[in-house]
Amino acid sequence: MKVLFLNGPNLNLLGTREPGVYGTVTLAQIEERVRALSREWGIEIEFRQSNHEGELVTWIQSALSHWDAIVLNAGAYTHTSIALRDAIAAVGVPTIEIHLSNIHAREEFRHRSLIAPVCVGQISGFGPESYTLGLQAAITVKETSARK
Ligand code: DQA
Repeated sequence: MKVLFLNGPNLNLLGTREPGVYGTVTLAQIEERVRALSREWGIEIEFRQSNHEGELVTWIQSALSHWDAIVLNAGAYTHTSIALRDAIAAVGVPTIEIHLSNIHAREEFRHRSLIAPVCVGQISGFGPESYTLGLQAAITVKETSARK
């Protein structure tokens, strides 16, 4: 099984970015933890981050036939990007939306996710563990579709 982790804008600043909201763990440390688990579970992963909407769209487009699932923290594009939503819908690779913070407990403009309707589900509010929960969700989605 192969899972692609995509990270949107400003997530490269984790560790120093608003530590009261996002904690002090860096994206590299999150990747390390996800890698350790995926090695244990025999899953191939790739971890990418971009501050550019178009690059994320291109990565989602090229996921077809390469990846079984995408785990996506789209950052602020979650709330603004019709382009990301359309890419997820077009490609049809099962996508799990994740967030470190609980977007529903924050400012009102974060309550709406434009990508949620085209994702399998949403994981929000578990800090760095949202990524490992995302990996588990990806496995569940694959197993469920294999049983159908
Ligand atoms: C975030 C939540 C978004 O609202 C915000 O713009 C981010 C990070 C999270 O992981 O909690 O950049 O996706």
